[in-house]
Amino acid sequence: MACKTMILFLLLLFCLPLNLHCTSSTSWIKGGYWTSRSELPVSQINSGLFTHLTCAFAYLNSSTFTLYINSTYEKSFSSFTNTVKRKNPSVVTLLSIRGGTAIFSSMVNQSSNRKSFIESSIETARLYGFQGLDLSGVLPSKSTNMTNLGILFDEWRAEVTSEARNSGNSQLLLVMKSHHLPAIDSVTYPIDSMLRNLDWVHVRAYDYYLPSRDNFTGAHSALYSSSSWFNTNDSIREWLKTGFPANKLVLGLPYHGYAWQLVNPNENAVGAPAAGPAITMDGSMGYKSIKAFIRDYGYGVASLYNDSYDVNFFSSGKNWINFDGAEAITAKVSFAKEKGLLGYNAFQLSNDDKWELSLAGMQLLITYNSYDQSFSTKRSFEL
Ligand SMILES: *[C@@H]1O[C@H](CO)[C@@H](O)[C@H](O)[C@H]1NC(C)=O
Ligand SMILES: *[C@@H]1O[C@H](CO)[C@@H](O)[C@H](O)[C@H]1NC(C)=O
Ligand SMILES: *[C@@H]1O[C@H](CO)[C@@H](O)[C@H](O)[C@H]1NC(C)=O
Ligand SMILES: *[C@@H]1O[C@H](CO)[C@@H](O)[C@H](O)[C@H]1NC(C)=O
Repeated sequence: MACKTMILFLLLLFCLPLNLHCTSSTSWIKGGYWTSRSELPVSQINSGLFTHLTCAFAYLNSSTFTLYINSTYEKSFSSFTNTVKRKNPSVVTLLSIRGGTAIFSSMVNQSSNRKSFIESSIETARLYGFQGLDLSGVLPSKSTNMTNLGILFDEWRAEVTSEARNSGNSQLLLVMKSHHLPAIDSVTYPIDSMLRNLDWVHVRAYDYYLPSRDNFTGAHSALYSSSSWFNTNDSIREWLKTGFPANKLVLGLPYHGYAWQLVNPNENAVGAPAAGPAITMDGSMGYKSIKAFIRDYGYGVASLYNDSYDVNFFSSGKNWINFDGAEAITAKVSFAKEKGLLGYNAFQLSNDDKWELSLAGMQLLITYNSYDQSFSTKRSFEL
């Protein structure tokens, strides 16, 4: 493993300078979220593995609808961009905003509230040196008026455009992390407005099934499965059906899995009866801690990569875990390439184990890039 990592590292060193000339690789997004509650110090982020890094989360003040950053983390937010750019000056940074549903709805429904929110978001981004804004946690649901959400995006883009003109800075990116489906119970996101105003949408292609909600085991991030189960292949198809072009969609990758408590240890297939979360409060576990758990308590039981779902399963006694290992991540990055998507975005970085998953995504790209390079080498040779 160490040897493999070393080879990868050398490959990276060798390939990165060449990539500068390769537009096809620079336009491919390799994104990741850093969350303030994680134990990963910003200075430890391996920025060289990413084109975009998102700092999460800023919240909405419930009376002024301006952005609010927990004072404990303010220093990490204000120094985020400078810190991650030390290792990779070309990495682009974004600030993620999470609106609690009730507060977000009140903001969206009133013109003056939208104005406060928009102005505050742009001011905060500029103050801290972020190059873009990411809206997270808004579902297509009756509790938020989708028409008004579309109006928000129109107004937000107009203000971002005018601010750039007035300040002489380049325009902030505007992106959104969406639900895995564009519609729930016949409520659809304001697709036209999103297409007009957002630079891209990254699809939350995970958390399809949760032990805190579902009383049966489920693959929370299956790439493929029969159509009666949620899966990423279907999620992306639904997005493409709305008219969203593939190159405006970024695939969300989970660096976490979920642990279910089986009702009967012998019944451990997908769809088996489950009695709620296991191991943690809500069953959620980072890749790193899943690996540690399997090492410590697996008693020799290996986690199995199942290539019909494209997830890893692990089952021991009453514990049933599914998660994305390196193979699953590689298969998804490959899927994103094949579908012509704009890239991937991992949630979230502190759950990776020694950058294994991030490197797995990279490894595949090196294969792709080496095709590009042999192409361009050939061309310059002929000239
Ligand atoms: C959403 O807001 C618009 C005004 O922008 C209003 O006409 C419409 O009735 C609202 N829809 C719902 C479902 O409340
Ligand atoms: C699981 O939940 C569904 C509804 O949410 C319920 O109809 C069903 O009886 C439950 N099954 C068990 C085994 O508790
Ligand atoms: C994935 O979705 C496509 C439609 O977008 C479908 O044709 C294909 O059969 C699906 N693949 C699998 C393995 O289910
Ligand atoms: C994947 O899981 C399904 C359902 O549990 C099973 O039928 C199939 O044999 C598994 N495939 C592999 C390669 O383990």
